[in-house]
Amino acid sequence: MSDTAYDTTPRSILVLGAGELGQPVLRNLARRARETKETTISVLLRASAVSSDDPDKQRAIAEIRELGIEIVVGDLVKSSIDELASLFARYHTVIGCAGYAAGIDTPMKLAKAALQARIPRYFPWQFGVDFDVIGRGSPQDIFDAQLDVRELLQAQTQTEWVIISTGMFMSYLFEPEFGVVDLKNFEVNALGSLETAATLTTPEDIGKLTTEIVFADRGSATRSCSWRAHRDLGRGC
Ligand SMILES: NC(=O)c1ccc[n+]([C@@H]2O[C@H](COP(=O)([O-])OP(=O)(O)OC[C@H]3O[C@@H](n4cnc5c(N)ncnc54)[C@H](OP(=O)(O)O)[C@@H]3O)[C@@H](O)[C@H]2O)c1
Repeated sequence: MSDTAYDTTPRSILVLGAGELGQPVLRNLARRARETKETTISVLLRASAVSSDDPDKQRAIAEIRELGIEIVVGDLVKSSIDELASLFARYHTVIGCAGYAAGIDTPMKLAKAALQARIPRYFPWQFGVDFDVIGRGSPQDIFDAQLDVRELLQAQTQTEWVIISTGMFMSYLFEPEFGVVDLKNFEVNALGSLETAATLTTPEDIGKLTTEIVFADRGSATRSCSWRAHRDLGRGC
């Protein structure tokens, strides 16, 4: 294990993506970094996002610049594992926030790049439902792909990994194709049956929680762990 792996201060953090989740993660990290003055925050974005005419994207980029976050231009799909590894190696902590948008093979590619880079700490994009609870063989292929990532990370001790399971994003309830909150018809439909419970978290709260975990003084606590917000929020590593 490298000496840097024991350095618990995340002096340089790279966030991958700045969408629904990445933006609140960046916002909260930058606020905290401003207080500690010891940490720099960077975000990897595609060139098309940086130069986009879309007003929402322009607002997001303007906020990123205002927060003093460095923009690194790159593409998670087009870059090879070697290219990503040499980029990641410049950082203490890498946090995946590219969601499923970058495709089913990308989570494994990013995890391999993180391990190859021997970064001290890696947060894969696993913020949604807890894939260990769902198990293999669900109708969603991406869940099995996410379990493969967990197994890869768990099988090594070089890079500390942290999985934060926060249940579904709150916004997902309102997606018309999900059909739970039907705003058009003023109806709320149960998921399967009235007994089905679901854990929901807003991305803003996930951003706050992630920042608390990133900056937590962990002392000699277990170096790799999962956070299951719905079951043991307040404990963990
Ligand atoms: N937990 C849940 O309840 C739940 C349930 C279902 C789905 N989801 C997933 O949650 C996600 C929504 O939040 P999110 O913030 O994770 O995703 P998102 O809002 O789709 O943001 C994705 C970010 O990754 C970037 N990105 C995509 N492809 C990239 C590439 N090849 N290289 C570099 N950057 C890339 C996007 O940049 P650009 O601006 O360049 O596109 C964007 O900044 C969706 O992916 C959705 O599938 C969550």
